[in-house]
Amino acid sequence: MKMEFEDNEEIHEDPMCIPDKPQKITFCDITSAAFKIKPHVEKTPCIRSHLSEITGCDIYLKKDYLQYTGSFKERGACNALIMLSADKKQAGVISASLGNHALALCYHGKKLGIPVTVVMPTVAPIMKISKCRQYGANVVVSGGNMSEAKNLALKISKEKNLTYINGYDHPHIMAGQGTLGLEIAEQVSDLDAVIIPVGGGGLIAGVALALKTLNPGVTVIGVESERCASYTKALEHGKPSPVEIEATLADGLAVPMVGYNAFHTAKPLVDKVVVVKEEWIAIAILRLIELEKCVVEGAGAAGLAAILAGQLEELKGKKVALLLCGGNIDTTILGRCLERGLTADGRLVRFIVTVSDRPGGIAELCRILSSIGVSIKDIMHERAWVKTDVFSVDVKVVCETRDEEHVQELMKVLTDKYKNVDLH
Ligand SMILES: Cc1ncc(COP(=O)(O)O)c(C=O)c1O
Repeated sequence: MKMEFEDNEEIHEDPMCIPDKPQKITFCDITSAAFKIKPHVEKTPCIRSHLSEITGCDIYLKKDYLQYTGSFKERGACNALIMLSADKKQAGVISASLGNHALALCYHGKKLGIPVTVVMPTVAPIMKISKCRQYGANVVVSGGNMSEAKNLALKISKEKNLTYINGYDHPHIMAGQGTLGLEIAEQVSDLDAVIIPVGGGGLIAGVALALKTLNPGVTVIGVESERCASYTKALEHGKPSPVEIEATLADGLAVPMVGYNAFHTAKPLVDKVVVVKEEWIAIAILRLIELEKCVVEGAGAAGLAAILAGQLEELKGKKVALLLCGGNIDTTILGRCLERGLTADGRLVRFIVTVSDRPGGIAELCRILSSIGVSIKDIMHERAWVKTDVFSVDVKVVCETRDEEHVQELMKVLTDKYKNVDLH
């Protein structure tokens, strides 16, 4: 079946992911993948977390961001490459990815001597593009989004006889991701639940199958960002259906439509899917750094975000595994996340106050702040837009506070002293 874009651009289909013939993987595919990839990927730790104390759940963190390229994607990519026939290994593979799958494929392709081409959309982070090039891959930067990049990759795959490997829907990819579930089952006994971030659905399909086969009593919960809730949409429609994607901190989950094979495999095994707000993802990133010294990307923090947001109250007192599945976060994005997390926590506050423009006016404001232990981060004053008398000045302050209670104390001392106080 071929479809046409509106501008007559032909849409190329992936022969391994046919909408009306979805494929399911088996538990045996996962155990076989585990055996094959064992020499090539890390068995990552899954240990009890300090977060147990603040969440009321007995939390275990599966630290798969510790893979060499920073994500679990190595499991599937490595398996898919090993599973190729000798001819296909020689001809090489191609895929489209924004980052983690591309990194994993390029890295393992180099190690296994298999030529890799990746098509990365122009919005892919420069750091990831150059890293893929460092692994010796042929990197094509083209397409404004993933759909365009994928279509081009499929076109090239046909022209150059390269095997196209979808990063979440190829059965060998799903089987590889399932090895994470086998490890969790081995590392944590009597597990009650696992929370799995969902993008295209390959991770949840593999892990759910592995865990539910070994322990049918485990509750499998998917989590996605409100900005790309494609699994929830698929559940509503009974089949994968496209969603509009908005920019999200969990860029690894920004897939416009879950895979047909992934949805078909995961649907009977997944007990619940929750959708988290961006601000909770930022807070979860912050908590993981502060309490666990783990630097994870938004997708990897989504499970904790759902717990912190109070969306999974039924897990209180239960033994829960969280998948910290990726750590590839841009340093600038990390900085912004930390600031957003601190703001949502009431530890970074911005306010505007109108004070006297006479000598000592701003000094007095500073004295008030210091008297209650508030530390000023930025301070700026403006005269031209002040609507009150000409002897007043608007002072905009960004300051560090301890918590919400401290913010209330700050507001009290400010409103006791000044008429115009505006907290943002
Ligand atoms: C860090 C991270 N977590 C989770 C996912 C979701 O995996 P899947 O697309 O198989 O659902 C991705 C996908 O790229 C990812 O990079």
